[in-house]
Amino acid sequence: MEMQYSSNENVNNALFFFYSVFMLVIILAGIRRRRTSAPIPPGPFSWPVIGNLLQLRSNPHIKLSTMAQTYGPIMSIRLGARLVVVGSSPKAASEILKTHDSILSARHISYTHPSSSPKLNKFAIGFAKECNEHWKNLRSICRAGLFSARAVQSQVKIRERNVANLVKYLHAKDGEVVDMSDLIFKLVLNIMGNILFSMDLFEFGPDENCSPGAQLKVLMAKFLNLLGSPNLEDIFPILHGWDIQGKQKMAKDIHEKMFKIWNQTLKERREKRNIIREDFLDTLLDIGFSDEQINHLLVELLLAGTDTTNIIIIWLMSDLIKNKNEMNKVRIELQTFIGDRFLEESDIMVLPYLQACVKETIRMHPPIPLLLPHCATETCNVMNFTIPKGSQVMVNTWAMANDPSIWDDPSSYRPERFLDSGVDFKGNNFEFVPFGSGRRMCPGLPMAFVQVQYVVACLVNTFNWFVPRDNDLDEVDMEEVYHLALRKKNHLELIPRAVNQWIEIMKIGE
Ligand code: HEM
Repeated sequence: MEMQYSSNENVNNALFFFYSVFMLVIILAGIRRRRTSAPIPPGPFSWPVIGNLLQLRSNPHIKLSTMAQTYGPIMSIRLGARLVVVGSSPKAASEILKTHDSILSARHISYTHPSSSPKLNKFAIGFAKECNEHWKNLRSICRAGLFSARAVQSQVKIRERNVANLVKYLHAKDGEVVDMSDLIFKLVLNIMGNILFSMDLFEFGPDENCSPGAQLKVLMAKFLNLLGSPNLEDIFPILHGWDIQGKQKMAKDIHEKMFKIWNQTLKERREKRNIIREDFLDTLLDIGFSDEQINHLLVELLLAGTDTTNIIIIWLMSDLIKNKNEMNKVRIELQTFIGDRFLEESDIMVLPYLQACVKETIRMHPPIPLLLPHCATETCNVMNFTIPKGSQVMVNTWAMANDPSIWDDPSSYRPERFLDSGVDFKGNNFEFVPFGSGRRMCPGLPMAFVQVQYVVACLVNTFNWFVPRDNDLDEVDMEEVYHLALRKKNHLELIPRAVNQWIEIMKIGE
């Protein structure tokens, strides 16, 4: 009996010994893992359920810049259930957009967007959830047909003709107040409409508000408003699939109405394939795209290309009006190299000061200050912090553009900082990435850069510009509003006065 008791005791002791060793191993492994796996980036306190949503309701680029001063160049916040990592320094931008580009270049898309459906996502570029074969194929089709040096060169006549139409219109309005924000939007939309499917969406003149462009403008604004307002499904994934706010349905209806604007053109073009036009629509038909594919791609390109370019032209004109010295330097450069004749697009190659002004304006007013939302496809380590799989990732280009440790006196308009500096926005200087960098970088940069320079060069060389109400420069407010893009809050109203009445504008662009 006693012997049986002592053998049980031995067994118990042995079990206890093995259990203790096992627990010790687990605890040590836990400590080791905690030491080796880095924490997620620091950030402000976030409320249960809603996270930091309320703090970011307006001007998130500014609020995030302020937070970055406390939490550092790589920090995290929560939007509802989603973890959002924000990079705000050149080092963080380079790690996100270059070093970890292959992991961090997926996209977060709102459920409001029709491209959030797996079927339509195959037709999207900017809203493609992953950098897959469909996305690669679309990007290379767009590069060849729209953005390569050859494609941009083939669009010269379209830009020259449309800018000439605007200049003629402004000549007729000499001395009157004109709404430049409205006119430039129409100009840019017309250029895009012609490049994409050879359609004049607007006529400058009395009937302009009945044109298809006027309807498209309203629809685009409605869609951007819809996309910019929160969708509860994005914040609380448990609601996914219910469309309780009806936003998916509204977005779908808006898209259908947009498609109708070029529906007839598309139909005719399919029927008469032998007529040579050689615009982008022809390229897509030649490749064999379906109507559905074409419609979704056209909407995406019109949205991506019109608003951004328009925003920059308006900011550049506002910056030059406000900064008389810089405006004079642009005028002197134009007089020296162009003189009194009307500009051709190739002339912009010889205008380095104007180029520096474009860069300075884009630095001060990056149209997409937080880039489009990236997403992590895998967990990765950035600057010794863990970015978990599925997190949203942003780069705050506005924070870097306003950082006094990067730019001398960042709030002053000083185009000279770009003359001979070698700093460019082509994605290699991470302190200045308004078009992004890496595989998701804006493919439209070459087209946008030419367009902005040419339009502004023509406007400045052909007219003197005055501010309504006694030419008081204080009347030109520079208030910004962030709504997916960073635009000028109030319309820019100016008075054009022709520099040379005798310029033969009737022949321009013909
Ligand atoms: C001043 C003008 C423009 C600016 C500042 C701008 C800026 C940007 C930015 C910041 C992105 C997102 C980059 C990222 O998420 O990392 C982007 C993407 C894109 N942009 Fe632009 N853009 C401009 C003009 C244009 C034009 C004219 C077009 C076409 C007609 C265009 C087409 C696109 C497309 C298709 C994408 C999505 C790329 C992708 O996700 O693969 N952009 N742009």
